[in-house]
Amino acid sequence: MKHLISIKELTQKQMLDLLTLAKEIKADPAKYSRALAGKSVVMLFEKPSLRTRVSFDIGINKLGGHCLYLDQQNGALGKRESVKDFASNLSCWADAIVARTFAHETVEGLAKYGRVPVINALSDLYHPCQGLADFLSLAEKFDDLSKVRLAYVGDGNNVSHSLMYGAALLGATMTVICPPGHFPDGFEVQQAQQIAAAHGGKLVLTSDINAIEGHDAVYTDTWISMGDNTALTDIKAKFAPYQVNKALMNKAGASYFMHCLPAHRGLEVTDEVMDGEGSLILDQAENRMHAQNAVLVTLLG
Ligand code: CP
Ligand code: NVA
Repeated sequence: MKHLISIKELTQKQMLDLLTLAKEIKADPAKYSRALAGKSVVMLFEKPSLRTRVSFDIGINKLGGHCLYLDQQNGALGKRESVKDFASNLSCWADAIVARTFAHETVEGLAKYGRVPVINALSDLYHPCQGLADFLSLAEKFDDLSKVRLAYVGDGNNVSHSLMYGAALLGATMTVICPPGHFPDGFEVQQAQQIAAAHGGKLVLTSDINAIEGHDAVYTDTWISMGDNTALTDIKAKFAPYQVNKALMNKAGASYFMHCLPAHRGLEVTDEVMDGEGSLILDQAENRMHAQNAVLVTLLG
């Protein structure tokens, strides 16, 4: 493993090893407190963040490393200086680059032109760190991830892509339920389906909300992702039947609710479900740090 750009580039073994290491780091942080000693990680963010920024910063600190935040929120990377020059200069000093970008090509460019590992901290196409934390959260509830039945409801976006690849690699069952016209990218679906087929997984896509029946966990995300200029008023009515509320959770028969956050309470999910007994939202948030630390230790340790 040289970078973490997308879960689709991992083998099943690499993914399972990352989850195992994340569990170990979570259980015995002291053992890893010097794992990144003398290493510096640069974090480039073109978009806002709470969880990703804080969990990387504190996580790197807990591994004994040093982290530097470069605020790109006032303009996309590549404006003042090309992505190529940016990446090759950063590689002179940093041991790794963590990047949250609008265009996925920017993350790929950093990996192509840099000489250090690059970790995708969310692009318009993928959110692999989130996906790893989510499957770590499920692994804490289910002994055998290949038996998990996960439903993703709402907008087919970067998070849905990473979840599809994760579920496919693990041989799990995943149903993606989206309003017509809001499905995940067709090419990503095709690739995820190939990976699922190779690992005994099942990936179904539909607009029929009745397909929610018979799942262990229901996952949703914002209806409008960062960088998407869609007006809420234009899609609200179309997405309303896909809101995750108590009735939908009951229909699913699901024990667990998942959301990467930030959530829009009252839109894609109700307060009752967010704050309900089976809500894994804070496990997911906490596990961001442990999953990312496993990635950092694997790439740099
Ligand atoms: N889930 C997630 O990536 O949160 P942030 O956008 O706050 O980093
Ligand atoms: N799909 C969301 C995830 C935020 C963590 C977005 O890209 O804005």
